[in-house]
Amino acid sequence: MNYAAITGWGKCMPPSVLTNADLATFLDTDDEWITSRTGMRERRISHVPAIEMAYVAAMRALACAGLKPTDIDLIVYGSCSFDEMVPNTASALQYKLGADGAAAMDVNTACTSFLYGLSTANAFVRMGTAKRALVIGVELISRYMDWDNRGCAVLFGDGCAAVVLEQTESRTGLLAETLGCYGDARGILRVRGYGATYANVNVTFGDMLWDFDGPQIFKKAVQGMTDASAKTLAKVNVKPDEIDLVVPHQANSRIIESVAKYAGISMEKVHLTVHKYGNMSAATVPVALVEALEEKRIAPGAKLLMPAFGAGLTLCSHYVEWGERVVPKDVSNVELPPCDKTALELVNEIRAAKDARGRSLAGIEGAYYVDRRPYATQ
Ligand code: UT7
Repeated sequence: MNYAAITGWGKCMPPSVLTNADLATFLDTDDEWITSRTGMRERRISHVPAIEMAYVAAMRALACAGLKPTDIDLIVYGSCSFDEMVPNTASALQYKLGADGAAAMDVNTACTSFLYGLSTANAFVRMGTAKRALVIGVELISRYMDWDNRGCAVLFGDGCAAVVLEQTESRTGLLAETLGCYGDARGILRVRGYGATYANVNVTFGDMLWDFDGPQIFKKAVQGMTDASAKTLAKVNVKPDEIDLVVPHQANSRIIESVAKYAGISMEKVHLTVHKYGNMSAATVPVALVEALEEKRIAPGAKLLMPAFGAGLTLCSHYVEWGERVVPKDVSNVELPPCDKTALELVNEIRAAKDARGRSLAGIEGAYYVDRRPYATQ
C-alpha cells in the first residue's frame, strides 16, 4: 500500500508586525481586550502579493525535501484570499517556480484550506495520480479586511507555509482525517464584496464588508473541532494521551484551550503561534507545523493531531504520523524583497484607498443567500 510522506516544509512570514497598540490607533479597542479575549499580541501584514509569499515558502519546502520545482507533479494552493480568481493562483505559482510538469489547483475552504488541500494531495499521491505534491497554505487577509469592523479586524494576519508530499511504502504521513461542514452556519462568517455576485453591479470595486458573529463562530468552532478530532482518533484507534503534539488552527487561544480540554489533551502538548501571528486562516496550521519542527517539538514517528475550522463553517481534524526525518536536507536562499514600511503604514494605505473609493456595500443587504431546499419537498 502507498502512503504520502511529508518530506519538505517551509514558511514565509512577511516582516512587518502589527501590534494591538497599532490597531488601537484607528479602532475602538485596546491591548487588554484583544489579549484577554483572543491571546493575540501581534500579527503580520504583507507588503507583497500572496503569490510572492507562496513562492518563497515553496522554495524553502522544496529545498528541505532536497527536490527541484521540476520534480513536482501536483500543486495544491489552499487559500481564501486569492490574488486573482481567474486564472487560478496555483497556475501562477507553477509558472513562477518553473514547475512545468505540475498540475495546479486552488482549494478554498477558508481557514481549513491547507488541511483540505493536504487531504486532496494525500489522496492523489496515495492513488498514484501524482508522485510528489506541493501543498500551500497562504493568506493575504489584510487586502480585503473590513478595517472598520473591530469585531474581526483585530483577529487576522498574513502568512504562508508549504509542505512537500512524496509517495512511499512506509506507513507514514496523513493516516486519517474527518472533514465536514455546518452549511447552515455559513451566514455567520461571510465576506461581502468578494466574488462574482459583486462584479459588474452597483458596488464600488474593492469595498469589503464582513458579516462576523464571533460568539456563534466560537461555539461552532469548538463543537466542530472536538467532534472531528474524536472521530479521527477513533478511525486509527489512537487514544488522546498517545498524541505527541496538537497543531491546531489558531483563531483564538480560548477556542484552542476548550478543544484541548474536551479532547482530553494537555495544553503542554499544543503548539501555539496565535500570540505572535493571530489568525492567518489557511496559513495557521502549516506555519505552526513548520515552527514546531524548527523548535524540535516533533520527533521521528511523532503522532500529530491537527483540528481546524473556517468559514462555511468547514471543519476537520487530521491525524499525521511523522516519518524518520525531522531536519531539512537543504536550505533555500530565496527571500522576500525588503519592506520599507511599517505594518501600520501598510494598513493605513489600504484604509485610505477604501476611504477614497467610498463605500457602496454598507446599504446592500442580502447580496446572496442560499435557501435550504429539503429533498423531501422537491
Ligand atoms: O477562523 C475563523 C475566524 N473567526 C473566529 O475565529 C472568531 C471566533 N470568535 C472569537 O474568537 C470570539 O468570539 C471573539 C474574540 C470574536 C469575541 O470574544 P467573545 O468573548 O466571544 O466576545 P463577547 O461576546 O464576550 O464580547 C463582545 C463584546 C461586544 O461588546 P458588548 O456588546 O458586550 O458591549 C463587542 O462590541 O466585545 C466588543 N468587542 C470589542 N471590544 C473591544 C468586539 N470586538 C472588540 C474589540 N475591542 N476588538
